[in-house]
Amino acid sequence: MNFNPYQIADGVFYVGVNDRQKALFENMIPLPNGVSYNSYLIVDEKVVLIDTVEAGYSEQFLRQIKEAAGGRPVDYVIIDHMESDHSSSLSALIREFPEIRIVGNSKTIGMIEGYYGITEGFYEVADGDTLAIGKRLLQFYFTPMVHWPEVMMTYNVTDKILFSADAFGCFGTLDGAVMDVQLLLDKYWNEMYRYYANIIGKYGSAVQQAFKKLSNLSIEMIASTHGPVWTGERLSKVMGIYDQLSRYEGQEGVVVVYGSMYGHTEAMAEAVARGVIEGGMTNVVLHDVSKSHPADILADIFKYSGLVIGAPTYCNGLYPEIAALLDKIAVRSVKNRVFGAFGSFTWAGTTIKNLSAFAEKMGWNLVGTVEQKQALSAENYKALLELGKSMCLSIKQLTKN
Ligand SMILES: Cc1cc2nc3c(=O)[nH]c(=O)nc-3n(C[C@H](O)[C@H](O)[C@H](O)COP(=O)(O)O)c2cc1C
Ligand SMILES: [Fe+2]
Ligand SMILES: [Fe+2]
Repeated sequence: MNFNPYQIADGVFYVGVNDRQKALFENMIPLPNGVSYNSYLIVDEKVVLIDTVEAGYSEQFLRQIKEAAGGRPVDYVIIDHMESDHSSSLSALIREFPEIRIVGNSKTIGMIEGYYGITEGFYEVADGDTLAIGKRLLQFYFTPMVHWPEVMMTYNVTDKILFSADAFGCFGTLDGAVMDVQLLLDKYWNEMYRYYANIIGKYGSAVQQAFKKLSNLSIEMIASTHGPVWTGERLSKVMGIYDQLSRYEGQEGVVVVYGSMYGHTEAMAEAVARGVIEGGMTNVVLHDVSKSHPADILADIFKYSGLVIGAPTYCNGLYPEIAALLDKIAVRSVKNRVFGAFGSFTWAGTTIKNLSAFAEKMGWNLVGTVEQKQALSAENYKALLELGKSMCLSIKQLTKN
């Protein structure tokens, strides 16, 4: 409900919505703080909408557009990214404004035809094209694979606002305001790591390409499709987080993830964590793979440069919950981790062999391994402490270089 549309700049309105009901984004990622689907309306000689919202919110969305536009019809809708969370209100929009032109690149137009059966009313743009809408000029920057092939960003040259699609986005609803200066920002920083790791994670090099492409733009505001509108000193913080994550450059710290049925592998994880602390690093995060959600584990894996994984041997292979996590890590092609492995078994251990092979496949630096037959021995306890300390040393060397 928004009977008084937010203006983020003179004549530029926020017409997005908050989703506090969806349990899992992409049916996988928990949304403890909800998510916003952001859409913006520029009211100039032309009325221009940038992206839409998820279909379930179409009515609220259309009402807000009408309020912001003062009853004028929408002339253009720019689809920066065709994914359903931003385009599934398109059919409702066309029913309301039959003359509307859909602005997109050739890939986007193909996807819109394929998903919605819409075959006319398109206005195709090429990379670098501009669109004059009155006082304002818009320019399109193609940023493929951030995180879909058709993604582009729309730069409002006149107001220096970058409509960045999913880039620089985060989970978390916009509670009472949409501008960063008016919001309590605490929750969004962690939500940005969760969003990046889970949604964008694999496409670091595409994000880096986008940074290069945008490097000459003067940007005073970033208006992405999820989360707050960023301004002022937050701009460099947000871009810094995306830059660091897309270079797969973790902060100093170690994530210890383990699976454990009866507590023996857990005891090993505790020893590694203690070793890390004794090695002089305070950023240690311990995750029980069966308790922490993989979305949260992945966020921490992207955040920190050190990763230690431990698992019991299970039916001659990896503990299945750990195997599932490895799959999620591999899907995202996480690079440059400083890695350690440990495992426990009763009769024939396979964990170290499997985790070493995984490290090799990922191209990670394997710092050390510890494998325990049955209950944890004093000798292996020391070895695990040493593994933690070696992780610290390797991570510190990495940051020095
Ligand atoms: C269902 C199941 C399958 C197992 N498969 C193997 C195995 O193939 N080889 C082995 O050496 N130990 C196997 N184990 C034993 C565990 O790896 C061993 O007890 C380990 O120390 C358990 O660690 P935890 O206390 O952290 O759960 C299996 C245990 C269970 C419950
Ligand atoms: Fe997306
Ligand atoms: Fe999105």
